[in-house]
Amino acid sequence: MQGKRILLGITGGIAAYKIAFLIRLLKKTGAEVKCIMTPASSDFISPLVVSTLSGNPVGIEFWNREDGSWNNHVEYGLWADVFVIAPLTANTLSKMSAGTCDNLLLATYLSMKSKSIVAPAMDLDMYAHPTTKRNLDKLEADGVKIIPAESGQLASGLDGTGRMAEPETILDGILAYFETKKDPRIKGKKVLITAGPTYENIDPVRFIGNHSSGKMGYAIAQKFLDDGAEVILISGPTKLKELESSKLKTIHVRSANEMLEAVQSEWDSCDIGIFSAAVADYRPAEVAEQKIKKSDDEMVLRLVKNPDILKWAGDNKTKQVLVGFALETNNLQENAQKKLEKKNLNFIVMNSLADQGAGFGHDTNKISILDDHNNLRSFELKSKKEVANDIVEYLKIYST
Ligand code: CTP
Repeated sequence: MQGKRILLGITGGIAAYKIAFLIRLLKKTGAEVKCIMTPASSDFISPLVVSTLSGNPVGIEFWNREDGSWNNHVEYGLWADVFVIAPLTANTLSKMSAGTCDNLLLATYLSMKSKSIVAPAMDLDMYAHPTTKRNLDKLEADGVKIIPAESGQLASGLDGTGRMAEPETILDGILAYFETKKDPRIKGKKVLITAGPTYENIDPVRFIGNHSSGKMGYAIAQKFLDDGAEVILISGPTKLKELESSKLKTIHVRSANEMLEAVQSEWDSCDIGIFSAAVADYRPAEVAEQKIKKSDDEMVLRLVKNPDILKWAGDNKTKQVLVGFALETNNLQENAQKKLEKKNLNFIVMNSLADQGAGFGHDTNKISILDDHNNLRSFELKSKKEVANDIVEYLKIYST
């Protein structure tokens, strides 16, 4: 669960106190946890406990009254890999099945891009009521995973079915969900991904670089990990948070030559190559050993060509499916077609700096894919996480 983003929704039932244990269990697996609470749930568990254990602020209202900031339900929906609502009261269940949206938790449920999992908890007669059954069936039909309530002693003193599943059972349900997300076409495959910029040193304090953030390559790496692949991420210098997974090997490099060396040492054993790095085409012919001092009004820097890493991989392709990127300012398709052929690619992901929200630094991207059978597919402007999904989905269809 390293790096997985779990959004926990807590509603107002007595079982809310057990969520402290669930948060602990989730954090132990390496997952990142954020929590949203309905106002009523804070009668059962203190937001301070939830925030301290999760290590993140808790969202309760749309507005934080102290500083006037907004808890953005859309951002929660984009952030989460899964939304787990536990305990789920009969009241919130009914609102979810009806599409009611009168608090932050419900607005987030409606905005959710990923799977929702619920663990209902209520008294036995409420749980057995036909309305509750109908509402749970409706949620299930909407794609929500239900972790059924268990039998035992209830807060009312009665014995019967209605207790929230134990935190360990909820955790098992979450783990089982991530297992089902793994794709048999990708599971067990070894994927090499280059990401980020390269820095080409001029002297000990200066370099030639570019504005690549690495976000696209990291999002693709995460998507392959989610699908069960083994990933070698060869990353230029970025400010991004390290991805974490037992199936991931990250190799940090700085220059194009270092990136080439890393690719060469890993390439043979890989099944798929995704080359999203923005590699500097040239590097200074000489790297000064000492800091270059200011002297004349002009200074000439002689550059020499860097190796084309993607072309090397294309020339040394044995079994691999090879994907390159083309970021262009003009003649996008024509230039991309030439790169596709010259570098022996299976397909090329094109983006244009002319498109708003596409390319370096943004959290969004707008791509088209051109493959070696001359198929062209264009996509809308989307978050880089969604673009990563599109690229990996294209690869699955291409390879089958
Ligand atoms: N690439 C690479 N090594 C290089 C240059 C580029 O691996 N030295 C890869 C990039 O990661 C990308 C693809 O080649 O997947 C295209 O990169 P781009 O910079 O668009 O193309 P270039 O081949 O460098 O051509 P130009 O700069 O002239 O557009």
